[in-house]
Amino acid sequence: MNKINYGFDAPAIMRNLIIFGLIVPVIGFSISYYTGNMILNYIGILLVVIGIILLILGISMYIYGIKGKFRMRDFMLSKIAWKGNENVLDIGTGLGIYMIGAAKHLTTGKSIGIDIWRAEDLSENNIENAYKNADLENVREKVEIKNEDARKLNFQDNSFDIILSMYCIHNIEDKTEQEKACFEIARVLKPNGRALIGDYIPTHDYAKYFEKAGLNVVSSKNYISTAYTLMWMVEVTKI
Ligand SMILES: C[S@@+](CC[C@H](N)C(=O)[O-])C[C@H]1O[C@@H](n2cnc3c(N)ncnc32)[C@H](O)[C@@H]1O
Repeated sequence: MNKINYGFDAPAIMRNLIIFGLIVPVIGFSISYYTGNMILNYIGILLVVIGIILLILGISMYIYGIKGKFRMRDFMLSKIAWKGNENVLDIGTGLGIYMIGAAKHLTTGKSIGIDIWRAEDLSENNIENAYKNADLENVREKVEIKNEDARKLNFQDNSFDIILSMYCIHNIEDKTEQEKACFEIARVLKPNGRALIGDYIPTHDYAKYFEKAGLNVVSSKNYISTAYTLMWMVEVTKI
């Protein structure tokens, strides 16, 4: 990898959505067209509708990978009044798009990315490629990348001014484990610190966990028009 590459999220899901999104409407149309049976006719129409929805979702994931991802990162980072000395943590950094984006706002601060680099979650996902992106973006000395699980962070309480995370928490399957990850964020965030957590599902459950952990929820809403795909973000502060 010799040029900057922030990957496609859930590449197999994206590919399958596009493939089924093309095949299912053709099957649905054929059933409707070649049968005189009314029930089969309705099933055919339903398949066409389902297929089109799958195709739209798959294409939206592709567009997110080439454009929406960068728009969402710029939007998220623009919500912070940067001083340059912040300690930033990016949870589930993958190939480092948020960690590196944050590092570009820093002078004396540090941007740390943690991940367990699951191959199915992001194309070409590994720590070496995250380091390569940091080199290519000329921020290597401002970043640090660690192999750590979001549910058990090896950082002291009140360590970070800013915590970012994109499309990571939903990968933790169990709700109680997701709550654990949110409690970890609350624990390592400094007083007056801010966390911005994005995901492809509504972030209202995360907001509840953060409230339970004593954080102040600023907002939890959707940003589909910014990301061009399914996107919600919860913003919290620590008092
Ligand atoms: C869809 S990718 C998004 C990567 C990056 N945030 C981005 O926007 O390009 C989700 C990332 O979360 C990571 N991840 C999944 N479960 C995790 C966990 N329990 N702890 C830390 N990282 C995790 C995956 O390895 C993957 O890199």
